[in-house]
Amino acid sequence: MKIIGDVFKDTKFTKGIEGMYMTPDVIAQRDKSFQMLGLSEGEKVLDIGVGPGFLSAAMGAMVGPGGEVYGIDMSEDMLEMAKMRCNEQPWVHIKSGNAMELPFEPESFDAIMASQVYELVSDVDVALNEMHRVLRKNGRALILDSDWDSIVWYFQDRDLMDKILLSWKEHYGDPILPRTLSAKLIKKGFEIKQLEVFPILNIKLTNNNFSYWLVKLINDLVPGRKGITREDVELWVKKLFDIDSKGEYFFNINRYLFLVNKN
Ligand SMILES: C[S@@+](CC[C@H](N)C(=O)[O-])C[C@H]1O[C@@H](n2cnc3c(N)ncnc32)[C@H](O)[C@@H]1O
Repeated sequence: MKIIGDVFKDTKFTKGIEGMYMTPDVIAQRDKSFQMLGLSEGEKVLDIGVGPGFLSAAMGAMVGPGGEVYGIDMSEDMLEMAKMRCNEQPWVHIKSGNAMELPFEPESFDAIMASQVYELVSDVDVALNEMHRVLRKNGRALILDSDWDSIVWYFQDRDLMDKILLSWKEHYGDPILPRTLSAKLIKKGFEIKQLEVFPILNIKLTNNNFSYWLVKLINDLVPGRKGITREDVELWVKKLFDIDSKGEYFFNINRYLFLVNKN
């Protein structure tokens, strides 16, 4: 059963996401996204799937009080966090909304950020149509998604690792979306201006890195899914920390960034 979106109603999960997004790995990922989108003062921007609000807060500073940022999300917890994070920028508006039914008029935005949200939606075609509709002519969008099958994670019991990752991937609409996204974007009428890969590589399991928080999120989410028991997950976590204590830890995942134009 697919339970897309439901995980973001769980406060433990959303707090874990917030912790993950404060790591240098994810800060560097955001910097890469900003560098590609290239916002200017006075622009009107949409942040689809605002999450804890790090992107909207930073984009608010970039466009300044003469611009506007709209951050939308379907999770109450995330909307709360984003509102707190942006509360000193009255030109940043955080509101409830669905990526597949954007609550905006056609051609409303100069630029759109959709970071790690399209991999979660149940129908990416509908979401891309919506992005195309609300972006102005010659406007641009930055889409970032992970390929969850790009994970390279050192672990001797491959069977257990595969089972754990399979149940983690269950909450994604398309856990390997980047592989088909270029073709989908072109079909919708976007022009691809730049395509980049952003790797995250950790050789330590400390709370200052991405994969530590991923372990925590997986530990909280997967017991009871696809036959995974609490004992399976505890064993998996213990083995990862054992590997780390021997100085042998290795984790890598690839994120893909698409900068597109609406001609
Ligand atoms: C992994 S977080 C990414 C947050 C943020 N974009 C970032 O990169 O910092 C995904 C967010 O998308 C939201 N989301 C999932 N499906 C959505 C949908 N159909 N419409 C709007 N938001 C959605 C979730 O609630 C969650 O806050």
